Parts: sequence; structure tokens; C-alpha cells
Amino acid sequence: MRKKIVAANWKMNMMQARSARFVESLLLEIGDISDVEVVILPPFTAIAKVTEALGTAPNIKVGAQNMHWERSGAFTGEISAALLRDLFVHYVVLGHSERRTLFGETDEIVNRKVCAAHEAALHPIVCVGETLAQRDKGNVDKILAIQLRGSLAGLGAKELQDTVIAYEPVWAIGTGRNATPEQAQEAHTFIRHTLREMADGTVAERVRIQYGGSVKPENARELMSQPDVDGALVGSASLDPRSFAQIVQAAREEG
Ligand code: 13P
Repeated sequence: MRKKIVAANWKMNMMQARSARFVESLLLEIGDISDVEVVILPPFTAIAKVTEALGTAPNIKVGAQNMHWERSGAFTGEISAALLRDLFVHYVVLGHSERRTLFGETDEIVNRKVCAAHEAALHPIVCVGETLAQRDKGNVDKILAIQLRGSLAGLGAKELQDTVIAYEPVWAIGTGRNATPEQAQEAHTFIRHTLREMADGTVAERVRIQYGGSVKPENARELMSQPDVDGALVGSASLDPRSFAQIVQAAREEG
């Protein structure tokens, strides 16, 4: 049985003070949670504040939104896996479509980062997803297969199992237009099928696949009721502790 995982991707938002207040409110809303894994992905500048505010809250982990693949050295402005580990970070989002389209990240770059994350015992959340034009051409499966095989190349069974996949159709991100539960399930089934081909059935069954793209309290339950939707990667609705807590609650009920 896969434990659902719900993550708050704050993107380039949230000052330190507001981050701490968010955590306080979230803890009041969701209390002691063990049936769903909750991850907060602050900007780098608020990671330490969020960790401090979380204290020993069980099952709420902190992640980063990006990192560089090199271990250390002359890479001005970059952050390594080791630097993230030093901040008690557990997860790192890699290959988000905003990084792919705005910052030129290719599957090869994402793959280097995924390997570096595993080497440092950080768990990557690897994002894949098609654009509207690719969907309209009937190329969803083809695009997902290319992104998965490219981004996850060379991983062993254990590493694959410790990787979370986020299916985020680009046309659903920040648009208010979420994929239907059926569209999400169809893509997630294909992702699991591809993982089965890349590793084996046991590994593919264990990997958690989140859905992301305009997830809100109003649609979260239906999306996460799908058999292969193992959680949500939430953008705008994660900036408000109450709406994020409602999405966590939906995961709990569908877990
Ligand atoms: P929205 O929830 O704002 O559509 O963003 C989704 C996303 O990109 C999460 O990583």
C-alpha cells in the first residue's frame, strides 16, 4: 500500500515570518498526522525557518525546489545536495516544467540532478508532463516516456523506489484548469507501466505518483480517489494553510 504524499510547492513566494506562521496554522489544522506524508517546499531562504517552526512534527518533511548536480565548488548562485542535507532537507523537486521551460533544463540535466540527489540520500520528486500542443497531437504517452526514461536513466531499483514522480500537465499549472480525474489516472497508469518496463512490477507498484496542476480543496478528493494518484503537488493553493490542510485532509480520506 502506497502512503499518499501531499507537497506544498511555494515557488518564489513566502517570506520567513509568513512561512513560520503558515507552519503554526498548518499544525493546528492537521495535528499529528501519520497516515499521509506531508512535504513543504519553501524557497531556499525559508527552509531553515520552516524546519525550526516544524520542530519535531512527525511526518511533515521539508524539501527544496531545485539543486545543482555538482557536490561543491565554483558554481556561483547554485545549491548542492550536501548544502540541502545540512538544512535537514529530505526531498528535492527536480525537472519542474517551470525549470524546463524558463531555465532550459533538459532530461539530461534533470538526470544528473536526480543521480546527485540519490547519492546524497535526498529523495527526488521528479516532474513530468506534456504541453497542450503535445496533448492535442495525441503525444502524451510519447512525451511522458521520453521524460521518464531520460530523467531516471541509470537508477537502480532502490533509487527508483525512493523517487517520487509528479505528473504535472503543463496546461494545468497555474491555469485553474486541472486535469480531469480520468485524464490524471490515464497518465498515471502509463507512468507506472513505463516504470514497470524500466525496472520491474514490484518497484513500479511502490513508486508514488503525485498529480500537480491547479489542485484545490474542491478537486483534490476526486483526483486522489483514482487508484494510481498517490498524492498531490500543490502550487497556489498551498500558500494558504487552510486550503492546503483541506487538501491533506482529502488525501487522508482517500488514503
Ligand atoms: P498550481 O497548483 O498553482 O497550478 O501549480 C502546480 C505546480 O506547479 C506545483 O508544482
